[in-house]
Amino acid sequence: GPSRQDSVNNANSPLKLFTHAKTTITEIFKSISVYVGDANKFLDDVNKSDRNLLTNEKYKEIQQLKEKVNRILSIISRDHMKVVFFGRTSNGKSTTMNAMLRERILPVGMGHTTNCFLQIEGTDKAEPYVLTPGSDEPKSVSSLGNVGSALSREKLDSDSLVKILWPKEKCRLIRDDVVLVDSPGIDVSANLDQWIEQHCLDADVFVLVISAEATITVAEKKFLHNVAQRLSNPNIFILMNRWDATANEPEMVDSVRQQHLDRGLEFLCDELHICDRQEASEHRMFFISAREALLKRNKDPTSSPRTGFSDGHEERFAEFNNFEHEFEKCISKTAVQTKFEQHTNRGKEIISILRDTTSNIANRSQTLKQEAVQKLTDMDEKNNKLERELRSMTETAKDKIRHVSEDVYKRVAQTLND
Ligand code: GTP
Ligand code: MG
Repeated sequence: GPSRQDSVNNANSPLKLFTHAKTTITEIFKSISVYVGDANKFLDDVNKSDRNLLTNEKYKEIQQLKEKVNRILSIISRDHMKVVFFGRTSNGKSTTMNAMLRERILPVGMGHTTNCFLQIEGTDKAEPYVLTPGSDEPKSVSSLGNVGSALSREKLDSDSLVKILWPKEKCRLIRDDVVLVDSPGIDVSANLDQWIEQHCLDADVFVLVISAEATITVAEKKFLHNVAQRLSNPNIFILMNRWDATANEPEMVDSVRQQHLDRGLEFLCDELHICDRQEASEHRMFFISAREALLKRNKDPTSSPRTGFSDGHEERFAEFNNFEHEFEKCISKTAVQTKFEQHTNRGKEIISILRDTTSNIANRSQTLKQEAVQKLTDMDEKNNKLERELRSMTETAKDKIRHVSEDVYKRVAQTLND
């Protein structure tokens, strides 16, 4: 339908769920940062007033919140969605990724091509560049074909990671914070556990690329079993690639498809228990031709002839679009959950620390105020009492004086009479 087409092309992509969540949570943490700043100023004043309203530890804790919030903001700015592509050599991993990137970025070819991990991520710079392990010096990739040749000069271990920084403006997937990892063929690399340890633990989605001419292999299964042991409920997609090969044998398509589907579902559902069969058959397995998808999409018309499509290419291309839509829904939902749930909880924690502290101070100063009022009332009462005493004292004094003066008067009169 139209929404699906939109999502593949532009603004309504499910990936926007992640980018929107990222913008929103950044705004929230900026507000928290202002709130923390205000609280710090307030507590400075409270501390200066020296009325024992705040313990020293609390004061320090609140002061440190500022740094904590800044740290979280910088983590959020680097948060991304990560997908790892894997499978046997020559199944078409790099071609699939290029088709999704809509450009021939990764080197592809016959035989064993990708010889280490390649991570493609976005840069705000206008020109692409490559970062190789053990060096901070960016190597420029002046033309498209050069990622391969820039790499062939390097001596790299199969489990080392090369980063390809690709201009965000050139590619929608990268602009929307997707990081793609290409891997060397799973059959030619020795240490799968180390692979998973080093490159896969923070992945949101795994895409297994299989050649439809062959079948899922023991090495691929073993890899996914290990992944499933390390990560609870990993998101796995299976792409049956090179489906264009069936154009030569149209009478076989349905039965071959059913056979692949059965094996794939058996593995995903009965062995790994990732999801039920219905869900897996609709949302997790796709029959595609990465080669055709790349041919249709590659923006550079000179780089490859737009020929070589076999019968049924429209269906295969529709299925490729379908896969991308499901992939985008899955990766953005997972990334939002795993990354932003944590941030949200931290934000709540910070706010409740601030709220508790300020309301403690308010309560405490309220108590102090009440004590002061009580003191005033007490003093008032004392005053009144004193006044009453004074008054009665003066009364007595007057009486006495009257008494004395009367007495004196009497005596004077007496003396005069005498
Ligand atoms: P390694 O990097 O060596 O592990 O291989 P890879 O999985 O990255 O495969 P790559 O994308 O380099 O593709 C290998 C060869 O298969 C290339 O010549 C591609 O053009 C070809 N190829 C890839 N996808 C398809 C497809 O869907 N149909 C056909 N017919 N050929 C394809
Ligand atoms: Mg490759």
